[in-house]
Amino acid sequence: MRLKTIDKADVKGKRVLVRVDFNVAVEDGVIEDDFRIIKTIPTLRLLARKKAKIILITHFGRPPAGALNGKERACFSVRRLARRLAKDLKKPVRFVSECIGSLPHKAVAKMKPGEIVLLENLRFHKGEEQNDEEFARGLASLGDVYVNEAFSVSHRAHASIAMITRFLPSYAGLLLAQEVAVLHRAYMKPKVPLLIAMGGAKIETKIKLIERFFDKADNILLGGMIANHVLQAQGIAVGKSKLDKEIVEKLKKVNWMSTKIHLPVDVVVAKKISVDAVGRIVGVGRVAEDEFILDIGPDTAGLFDHIAAGARTIIWNGPLGLSELAPFAAGTEAFARTVAKSKAFTIVGGGDSAASVDKLGLSKKIDFISTGGGAMLEFLAGEPMPGIDALLHKT
Ligand code: 3PG
Repeated sequence: MRLKTIDKADVKGKRVLVRVDFNVAVEDGVIEDDFRIIKTIPTLRLLARKKAKIILITHFGRPPAGALNGKERACFSVRRLARRLAKDLKKPVRFVSECIGSLPHKAVAKMKPGEIVLLENLRFHKGEEQNDEEFARGLASLGDVYVNEAFSVSHRAHASIAMITRFLPSYAGLLLAQEVAVLHRAYMKPKVPLLIAMGGAKIETKIKLIERFFDKADNILLGGMIANHVLQAQGIAVGKSKLDKEIVEKLKKVNWMSTKIHLPVDVVVAKKISVDAVGRIVGVGRVAEDEFILDIGPDTAGLFDHIAAGARTIIWNGPLGLSELAPFAAGTEAFARTVAKSKAFTIVGGGDSAASVDKLGLSKKIDFISTGGGAMLEFLAGEPMPGIDALLHKT
């Protein structure tokens, strides 16, 4: 899979519209993890060296539909991300409080070669997620060249990812090309046995992937909310754990008898979800009605470690518990250690899993850390990737 990368293009003095994914973890207004921001820096430095005018576009979070009030707009604004990028890059980054229309046009008209601006959240406009042609044309009018440096959202057919490539010469960023190359190799020729471990949020998309991985993977480990849903679908009580009833119904139709699937055998439960909650370890099936399942238990961590020991490729996405709260981080951290010590080719994707690995100082022991969570899984499951397909059709 060969993509045309931006380092081959002549961009001197040109307006280069770079789609990044600065959808990073922010808690109480504080950026908790700037991994995705840092990973775009080589492309941005390259463009600055080549004297391009760099116009960055990104989404951030999932703003509610309809008109936003001032508080909501501030909460989903990318202003703070411009500040963080400037700090990481050691270079000024101007924030422009709109991504379409006269405001960004005026800002771009004033830019000098080598300068960088970051435009406001693309998802403030419904045209973005609707892959709307008019919206894409509006964005495209800000640039002469388009770069996709947002692997982690390239599984979405959104205007700034897919439609926009119709209107501008389009290239892959350095990071996107690297992610595609590594993951393509893992997809085409994984060293077997292949183990896939899944946890984390956004389960609606992950569920369909489990079935896709049935053929490909030798073992599939499930933790977190996905495991809770599967347990419930099997008729095992999960107490007060949050469930999406529709997903549980869908899961009831899946044949879970496969010996490839491994679910928790014990879990950590608590009566409340908070940092001062006291967890208790119970066997699966012994969760009380007023308890939440918030982590895998030590026996499960041991079981997962044992299964992982036989793998030659490990792909992991998503924490196995509520790892952002200290009392419930042990299971995810244990699995991070399992992956780090493995001799298999190891790939970790998704903000929270990557953060767990990083927090333990184990990042260097992982062969590849992808910026993509859902995108990585969809790519590896062979699902369509509108952002990448659009670039391939152009080359
Ligand atoms: C992610 O964090 O996985 C990407 O930024 C995509 O975000 P989304 O799931 O809200 O489209």
